[in-house]
Amino acid sequence: MNNPVNHFENDLLAALSSENKHISPKYFYDANGSALFDQICDLPEYYPTKTELSILSHHSGAMAQHMGPHAELIELGAGALTKVRLLLRQLDSPTSFLPMDISGDHLTAAARDLQREFPQLAVSPIVADYTHDWSLPLPHKATQRRIAFFPGSTIGNFLPTEVDSFFANCAKHLPAGGLLLGVDLLKPPQIIHQAYNDAQGITAAFNSNLLTRANRELNANFDVSQFAHWAFYNAPQHRVEMHLVSLKKQEVVLKNQSFVFEEGETLHTENSYKYSIDKIQDIAEKQGLKSGPVWTDPNRWFGLLWFDIPDFETA
Ligand code: AVJ
Repeated sequence: MNNPVNHFENDLLAALSSENKHISPKYFYDANGSALFDQICDLPEYYPTKTELSILSHHSGAMAQHMGPHAELIELGAGALTKVRLLLRQLDSPTSFLPMDISGDHLTAAARDLQREFPQLAVSPIVADYTHDWSLPLPHKATQRRIAFFPGSTIGNFLPTEVDSFFANCAKHLPAGGLLLGVDLLKPPQIIHQAYNDAQGITAAFNSNLLTRANRELNANFDVSQFAHWAFYNAPQHRVEMHLVSLKKQEVVLKNQSFVFEEGETLHTENSYKYSIDKIQDIAEKQGLKSGPVWTDPNRWFGLLWFDIPDFETA
């Protein structure tokens, strides 16, 4: 089954054809990958989800105040909808909730449960790839402000140019609104390393699932046992890189084309950038956003950053 909002086949063909084999991490999230990611979030080594949840549970009241009454909340990359519940419980009469995700099945089920819990709220899931497509429906009639919630430090997956266009999209589509952004902050590399190299091998399974998915959906013939999980912190670039390393010289066939992996050659599957608070605020401000409060944990491992978005006249 091919999801209309992505272009897995074209992107994988392009990756395999190039010298530097690189594919977007958005293709991790088929139903299996989404379930594996939920398991990652519960791992003892994976600090981001737990840390962000604890910040949210301590400060959701203050965050909701910044969002204001009758807000329309848009969640980007909405997965299990655990985090947004903490905000929705604190918000003053929110009009509607638009969870947006690339993984349709996962999203629909989660949205149905949420609707049951918040019967007054208009819940409208949107299956879309927000890295490209920001076509939002017209705001709910009673909406006073449109607020984007982008948790999970998924912004870490974006290349610097994509971060710029993300903030530019916020400025363009959420005039007089706001953004609550989850950012994984700079910290000692050993802590980061463990988070992407867990003892149970769940992250490895999540990484390899990309090949399993390609075999199933695109009829590729990756020998999944001959590619190893490799994740490391690239300190000068402030990012985790995940790769799948070919354990031998081997050939892969996709759409009647054959591609060679040399022994040790990799398919680069993910970047996960870490930021200082100043750096990410600086980048956002260059696109016209106004920095507001920052909520963080005692270790300063993770930040939830508030940005006000100016109205068109004042921008
Ligand atoms: C969903 C992008 C936040 O980069 O930490 C977890 C995905 N990859 N383990 C991250 C991920 C490997 C995650 N984000």
